[in-house]
Amino acid sequence: MVWKIALAAATAFMGANAVTTNYQSTVDPLNIVLPDIPQTTSLDSGVQCTYYNSPNAIVPSEWPTVWGSATSNGMNTSAEFTALYNSIDWTKAPNFPVRKLNAAGGLDMTGYDGAADPACWWSASTCKTPKTAGINADLYACPEPDVWGITFDDGPNCSHNAFYDYLEKEKQKATMFYIGSNVVNWPYGALRGVKDGHHIAGHTWSHKMMTTLTNQEVLAELYYTQKAIKHVTGITPKHWRPALGDLDDRVRWIATQLDLTAILWTLDTFDWAANVTPGITEQTVDDNYEAYIKMGTNGSYANSGNIVLSHEINDMTMQFFMKHYPEIKKAYSHVMDVATCMNITQPYVESAVTFPTFDQAVGSTTNTSTGASSASGATTPGAAKASTSPAASAAASVYTSLNGPLFIAALFGLLVLV
Ligand SMILES: *[C@@H]1O[C@H](CO)[C@@H](O)[C@H](O)[C@H]1NC(C)=O
Ligand SMILES: *[C@@H]1O[C@H](CO)[C@@H](O)[C@H](O)[C@H]1NC(C)=O
Ligand SMILES: *[C@@H]1O[C@H](CO)[C@@H](O)[C@H](O)[C@H]1NC(C)=O
Ligand SMILES: *[C@@H]1O[C@H](CO)[C@@H](O)[C@H](O)[C@H]1NC(C)=O
Ligand SMILES: *[C@@H]1O[C@H](CO)[C@@H](O)[C@H](O)[C@H]1NC(C)=O
Ligand SMILES: [Zn+2]
Repeated sequence: MVWKIALAAATAFMGANAVTTNYQSTVDPLNIVLPDIPQTTSLDSGVQCTYYNSPNAIVPSEWPTVWGSATSNGMNTSAEFTALYNSIDWTKAPNFPVRKLNAAGGLDMTGYDGAADPACWWSASTCKTPKTAGINADLYACPEPDVWGITFDDGPNCSHNAFYDYLEKEKQKATMFYIGSNVVNWPYGALRGVKDGHHIAGHTWSHKMMTTLTNQEVLAELYYTQKAIKHVTGITPKHWRPALGDLDDRVRWIATQLDLTAILWTLDTFDWAANVTPGITEQTVDDNYEAYIKMGTNGSYANSGNIVLSHEINDMTMQFFMKHYPEIKKAYSHVMDVATCMNITQPYVESAVTFPTFDQAVGSTTNTSTGASSASGATTPGAAKASTSPAASAAASVYTSLNGPLFIAALFGLLVLV
């Protein structure tokens, strides 16, 4: 009941300048039921990636081909996509060219003026602030000092439990960038991500370099990923990350039409590249982690924090993280998901799912000497709102379930010792 009211409120709120979308789900993200599938801690991918039936079956004819282009399977001519496409005023789209790949599979930047960088093309310049008006600027670093912003790309993985169990045991939330094709293939991980309170964001349908795609293809990559995450988990993310960080103002503008903001990073572990890219070994990745850990204690983050790129892509990358996590925790005051470090308390269209502010999150983890000031910072409008609107009280209930002691601290300004 409460859930329906919250949904209606969210829809009304979105109404103002929303484009025509058809996101649907029977899943209540406040009440995720995990499918009852065999669990294993085996690192044998044949064992851990045993196929299972999805609880929210995908009808293949209604989706792009898994790992194919998001415009495949007639998805660019469907009534639904046509309605979406036509609801966007393309005359306002920045007119930058579709980029090309070179023979080696990299981006061909021939002829692009990287110094002037008119398109704010991240791959050319790491530009993150759009040069065209009306486009959402990228987020890329947690602003508070001593913060490790924790992000994992390329999930959800087929390996049903071990990594998420670890994060749960450590009470660690992360931002997870899910690939649409993986979400429909391996829905258990996506459900687990939402149920465990991780911050979920999109990572395109088929992981292509976005600036090399046409407007239609970019829109389809973003839209069908949103739709897949909503279908499987009940939430519609407001954030995404382009594969390899490849975006420019044309791609950003299209994402903005879908109310999406990109999240990039400041530090790259290159965890996926060990034994894949010539010259990058497991030692290289360990060294990267060690250097980034050291930066937590040598003054590099005395005034602001980072966002670190790591991957859920396979056991190796997940193991790298778990190996270094205890040291990360020691070196940084705060290790947190990006929604929390940015005070994004409603990172989904479904406003009933809420995240704490930075101050609230810090209030739950600080010790006696820091607790007093952060706990007072956690006395929020969110707590007051809880008694006035149904949507906010639904939000309060998920908030309580996510972090009971913290919610109580926010209400009463109590000092919390954890
Ligand atoms: C739809 O996408 C396919 C490729 O997936 C392409 O061949 C076709 O030309 C596109 N159709 C339209 C009408 O854009
Ligand atoms: C901190 O450590 C990192 C990694 O070793 C190094 O790159 C950086 O220059 C150091 N910064 C300071 C201020 O010492
Ligand atoms: C997940 O991890 C396993 C084990 O490393 C790997 O075989 C698989 O390709 C990964 N990706 C997905 C989508 O499951
Ligand atoms: C988060 O909220 C706190 C308290 O209002 C504020 O000091 C901080 O600047 C905010 N951070 C961001 C990224 O908005
Ligand atoms: C408690 O907080 C103080 C002040 O930030 C810090 O110096 C100290 O190391 C913290 N102690 C523990 C056990 O975290
Ligand atoms: Zn990726």
